[in-house]
Amino acid sequence: MSEALIEIRDLCKIYNPGEVEVRALDHVSLTINRGELVAIIGQSGSGKSTLMNQLGCLDVPTSGDYFLSGQNVAKLSDNELSDIRNREIGFIFQGFNLIPNLTAVENVEVPLIYRGIGKRERRQLAVASLEKVGLGHRLDHKPSQMSGGQQQRVAIARAIAAAPPLILADEPTGNLDSASSKEILQILKQMHASGRTVILITHDNEIAAQAKRIIHIRDGKIDSDTINEGGK
Ligand SMILES: Nc1ncnc2c1ncn2[C@@H]1O[C@H](COP(=O)(O)OP(=O)(O)O)[C@@H](O)[C@H]1O
Ligand SMILES: [Mg+2]
Repeated sequence: MSEALIEIRDLCKIYNPGEVEVRALDHVSLTINRGELVAIIGQSGSGKSTLMNQLGCLDVPTSGDYFLSGQNVAKLSDNELSDIRNREIGFIFQGFNLIPNLTAVENVEVPLIYRGIGKRERRQLAVASLEKVGLGHRLDHKPSQMSGGQQQRVAIARAIAAAPPLILADEPTGNLDSASSKEILQILKQMHASGRTVILITHDNEIAAQAKRIIHIRDGKIDSDTINEGGK
């Protein structure tokens, strides 16, 4: 059985085709196996967010193929893509993206609702997930009653609650102080150690250095793809 979780073949994303074209992804091919912790690093404008949107099934490519768990998702409809997102991917964003008027545990339950999980099991999964990120004592706090680091931990709990095979984190420490950043990176490494596939998108060398595999992207192309002996 192939261990590949992600296989991208010759992927191109062109914005404004036929007008002032921007080739944001230019023939990218990439394989990521189950259980890897990979950092994708590049300067502003290099195509990181475009790649994240593709990996996260938030957008379709102009050309090329994307196999996620063996299924070609490059040509699916919006509804099919949202099913795949619910099933396969946990998202962590720079801005946490929590719902302000919901408590921590309610925020974590949101993707479980979309997955059709019943009320009681939802609560159990959400509580267990918040305990994993050290927030078992903050279940009923709203985002505004928590620090940035705590909010990002809620977002991580939300991402992992339904145990999706893939965790996609886009600049997850971009809005955090250095102590909270360390905490969040530590949790992401724990996720990886417990067998999840984690993709960390960043412009920060120090953060990328935490990963065992570092992929540099420049002008929409993979510039280098190396094993980092210092990472874990
Ligand atoms: N919706 C869009 N329409 C047109 N051009 C875009 C759009 N999104 C991104 N771009 C362009 O694509 C290139 C890659 O952008 P992006 O993926 O956001 O890079 P990064 O996340 O690394 O900063 C940039 O030149 C950017 O200006
Ligand atoms: Mg970006």
